[in-house]
Amino acid sequence: MSATIILGAQWGDEGKGKVTDYFAEAADFVVRYQGGNNAGHTVVIGEERFALSLVPSGVMNPNCTPVIASGCVVDPGVLLDEIDMLTGRGVDPSRLRLSSNAHLIMPYHRKLDAVKERYLGRQKIGTTKRGIGPAYADKYARQGIRVQDLFDTKIFVDKLETVLTEKNKILTRVYNQLPMDTREIVHEYQAFAERLRPYVDDTSLLVGSAISEGRQVLFEGAQGTLLDIDHGTYPFVTSSNPTAGGALTGTGIGPKAIDRVVGVAKAYISRVGTGPFPTELDDDDGETMVRVGGEYGTVTGRRRRCGWLDLVALRYSARVNSLTDLFVTKLDVLSQFETLNVATAYSSLGDYYTEFPRQQRVLYNCTPVLHELPGWKTDISGIRDPADLPDAATAYLHFIEDAVGVPIRWVSVGPERNQVIDFRPTATS
Ligand code: IMP
Repeated sequence: MSATIILGAQWGDEGKGKVTDYFAEAADFVVRYQGGNNAGHTVVIGEERFALSLVPSGVMNPNCTPVIASGCVVDPGVLLDEIDMLTGRGVDPSRLRLSSNAHLIMPYHRKLDAVKERYLGRQKIGTTKRGIGPAYADKYARQGIRVQDLFDTKIFVDKLETVLTEKNKILTRVYNQLPMDTREIVHEYQAFAERLRPYVDDTSLLVGSAISEGRQVLFEGAQGTLLDIDHGTYPFVTSSNPTAGGALTGTGIGPKAIDRVVGVAKAYISRVGTGPFPTELDDDDGETMVRVGGEYGTVTGRRRRCGWLDLVALRYSARVNSLTDLFVTKLDVLSQFETLNVATAYSSLGDYYTEFPRQQRVLYNCTPVLHELPGWKTDISGIRDPADLPDAATAYLHFIEDAVGVPIRWVSVGPERNQVIDFRPTATS
């Protein structure tokens, strides 16, 4: 399998960092195709925990080239801090490649993200306040500043002056903030430019050539399907396309290049920020998931909202991404429960839904139709052979496969790299 997309099949935080790291051992390239430092990936290697937000997990493998592709938005100060952190802890980031077409997060993007959320009050999205939405908004308004602009002072200053004239009016007149100074930003970003120069590349060409040569390429999605700007629970979404299509446009390759699309799904479900969440648990069971699953955001430290596995949403995710395999994570967290529930349908406003509803009002009013399954109440974190799983755990996994129509290929039972069960050890690829 030469080209594999690994993406979040829920609202993000499915454990993609660990999954990508698991595959990255055999990968030649790991490509981030969307999002920015709103993502948080924790990779645990032995006693060491690495929290990455921009650099792809593949950086841990010395034979792998990590790539930040053009669909990403890059805060250069954050990227350089991450590079320094890795270097300081003995990981060599020099192989990192950064697309010259990726858009830059600018100081006014961060500012606008924060003030807009305050302005929205109860209607807020609960963003990570990293400037992601405003940076993508400028990209699509065709007034974004790209990585390549850092290396052409005239273009950089011209673009910045034009855009900052508008932004300063918005900051001062709409949000009652102080204006920002062009010279300060130019000074700060020119220093970033010199340090970033060695990493900048034509990543579409690089990745396209790698695929043609049959090299192992992993595309690492950030966030998750239900946070997709087109296919998620709009407007409570991120501003990019974490779905499989985003890997193509965000890298600059075509659909025929992809061999496999792996959906990563927690054995339950969580979301951070606001927005509809049909299977959310506001009770002790939800609290147990937060406590045992360590459900606090890597980036913002916010407590994640937790609930029973939503098979309506997962089936939707399988469809919009053409999932070929599922990687189920955190099955060990469910060992706490006497009985388990999964949502097989929704009821909302007097109707019954087996497909994920498109209408915002319908989704808001959904109550899940739950199916109860027995729990197993034993520690499964040491299991590596699927034959050793308790029958109830195997039945739970088979129930998911049947409902979603996608085979579960791997199951994770703990945070360590090796705490993975190959659920189909006889599969050939
Ligand atoms: P933004 O991406 O910072 O604009 O935030 C938009 C929404 O996406 C908010 O609900 C965030 O909590 C959510 N979000 C952004 N990044 C992640 C992530 O990596 N995991 C989970 N949720 C995220």
